[in-house]
Amino acid sequence: MEKAKSGKNLLEINNLTVSYGDGKIITEVSFALKPGEIVCIAGESGCGKSTLIKAVLGIKQLGAIIEEGSIVLDGMDITRMSDEDRRQILGTQIGYVPQNTRGSFNNIRSYDVQYQETMRSHGLKFDRNEAIKCFDRLNFPDSDKLLFYQPWEMSGGMNQRMAIAQAVLLGPKLMLCDEATSVLDVTSQKEVIEELAKLRDELGWSILFITHNLGVASHIADKLGVMYAGRMVEYGNIRKVLDNPIHPYTKRLLSAIPGRDRKLPLGIEGRPPLDGAEWEGCNFVDRCIHGGEKCTEKMYKLVEVEPDHFASCMRGGQCNDNE
Ligand SMILES: Nc1ncnc2c1ncn2[C@@H]1O[C@H](COP(=O)(O)OP(=O)(O)OP(=O)(O)O)[C@@H](O)[C@H]1O
Ligand SMILES: [Mg+2]
Repeated sequence: MEKAKSGKNLLEINNLTVSYGDGKIITEVSFALKPGEIVCIAGESGCGKSTLIKAVLGIKQLGAIIEEGSIVLDGMDITRMSDEDRRQILGTQIGYVPQNTRGSFNNIRSYDVQYQETMRSHGLKFDRNEAIKCFDRLNFPDSDKLLFYQPWEMSGGMNQRMAIAQAVLLGPKLMLCDEATSVLDVTSQKEVIEELAKLRDELGWSILFITHNLGVASHIADKLGVMYAGRMVEYGNIRKVLDNPIHPYTKRLLSAIPGRDRKLPLGIEGRPPLDGAEWEGCNFVDRCIHGGEKCTEKMYKLVEVEPDHFASCMRGGQCNDNE
């Protein structure tokens, strides 16, 4: 689904280093989203994907502290914005769909009341007809009745879709989706993914989409970032990264996709180091079949291995064996 737009960036993440007060959790992560672009970030559990989202949201209670680097939204530096100013942009400029929206809605109050409250809290008027038009645009069933349901009456998939619709009504330019489809069955997952792609096409949303599922990434993304233990190890055009993975970790991640041969995927032996964002050299070295002393000498930054494709292995484009 290659629809990358040109022009200036909507979101820029520059050399971002984040902690929760102690050691670094993510180190020197940089990438950008253009208007209308979908960037997926993949990587094993604990590699810092949600921390990245928390840093962009910047809500103090989420605990993520930006130690270094900057986050720029549409030309405005939001790295250390006051809570007051941040309230003005969350929802209306930056939308957020978490993994499980059950916790974002009150289970026993109608969507109608909850949508109204959310809109009012952002200083916006709630227009029921607009909401119904939005449901129609997203092909929701029974769109005229939906607002009067309560979340407990809905399936997980439908609740997730109601959260997306609520985000649409607030009119953000940037959408942050943290595993927004991971808890859904394949049918609901497909519906949500198609809705997000449609919203990007119709409203020009830029979407930062966190997922474990490289199949989903392959379908929806323009670009793919692969994170490992707090670092971005590969980044670029989705087709180039998937067709010609360079970093040994990306290759192992791709070989871990379940096949139809009834065999368990290979997986990746070992676990990412918990303090991997703190390491001097490559932090994949212990799990890498090429890992050697040279790898631990310094942190290898992303280098361009082909146009629109970057990887951070010291072997660079040489690492082309079939692991
Ligand atoms: N509030 C917090 N305080 C301290 N450490 C935290 C906090 N939240 C996350 N961490 C730690 O930060 C690291 C990265 O966590 P994060 O949730 O960003 O990973 P993730 O890539 O989103 O993982 P998953 O795929 O399981 O959602 C983990 O080691 C985690 O234990
Ligand atoms: Mg997470």
